[in-house]
Amino acid sequence: MFLKNAWYIAAWSHEIGRTLTQRWIAGEPVVLFRKEAGEAAALEDRCPHRRAALSMGKLIGDTVQCGYHGVQLDCSGSCVRIPGQTTIPPSMRARAYPIAEKWQWVWVWMGDPALADEALIPDFRWNDEPGWVSTGGTIEVKANYQLLTDNLLDLTHETYVHAKTIGNNAIVEWPMTHRTEGSEVHVQRIMRDTPPPPLFAKVRGTEENIDRWQTIRFQVPANVSIEARGYPAGSEDLSQALRWFSINSITPVDDGSCRYYWTITRCFGQEDEALTELIHQSIHATFMEDVAILEQQQLMIQTDRADRKEIGVRADAGSVAARRVLDRLIRAEATSAATHGGEPALATHA
Ligand code: FES
Ligand SMILES: [Fe+2]
Repeated sequence: MFLKNAWYIAAWSHEIGRTLTQRWIAGEPVVLFRKEAGEAAALEDRCPHRRAALSMGKLIGDTVQCGYHGVQLDCSGSCVRIPGQTTIPPSMRARAYPIAEKWQWVWVWMGDPALADEALIPDFRWNDEPGWVSTGGTIEVKANYQLLTDNLLDLTHETYVHAKTIGNNAIVEWPMTHRTEGSEVHVQRIMRDTPPPPLFAKVRGTEENIDRWQTIRFQVPANVSIEARGYPAGSEDLSQALRWFSINSITPVDDGSCRYYWTITRCFGQEDEALTELIHQSIHATFMEDVAILEQQQLMIQTDRADRKEIGVRADAGSVAARRVLDRLIRAEATSAATHGGEPALATHA
């Protein structure tokens, strides 16, 4: 079960153009393209005639021509042409999804179009903020998307998984706090006068101790931004700090796989392309360490007995809180769908 009344990243803005791109999002096939005027559009990637994938067809102006028997659909999903006949049954139409572009990404709303509100797109403003520079990518992960959210909300794993880059013993030695606010979860860990992890030492050019802050914000369904700060120990001078946002959004493909969109956005050395490259390569390698763990974890979960209970530890608090929030919203959608007997309807995420 996925939260349907939510925005999911379908692609980077630069990936969508005048060709047809297929993406599976929360178990549904979606075809994406740009209209001649440049606006992005998304339809269910399933022809209403015989269910061929529309993404195998072609764009004719602002319409999609199915590659099988030539039925043509406009951006609202309405059929505008059926080869060999003049009448078009009103039921010959595909679902059109609300779409928006923000923070360098194309977002698709998978639920009731009447509830699609751009204000519900997660706050990833740092990707576009003047004075900040970002680098990022996409990773296809063969694991349930919530394993990745869990991972980002419990950074104790950095000590064990990322010792070459962003992990060291300080992380497990300092406590974290968390709180739930509406449909958001906030987690924070402040580490005082600790050795910098290897990547911080490399980026700052010193092994001097730091005060290290990790401030995490979770927004449904699977959006996690992490503000990282590394101050010279004892100072809270932001001008001397390493400071970046690790912005993460995970789009479920199906129950056992997802697409992981990430950026690191920083406000120092913005012109330094070698630094951007160092951060990009180091963080990508770091995330691939997560992916190796998570793909095996997924395998172990899906091959285990269904009734086996996991055993919680204190460090799970943030990820458990996030799962509770999402479960509550998914249950509310299911209840609403049962009551209204159709597409799920839910007013807000608050
Ligand atoms: S399946 Fe698309 S036109 Fe026949
Ligand atoms: Fe990690």
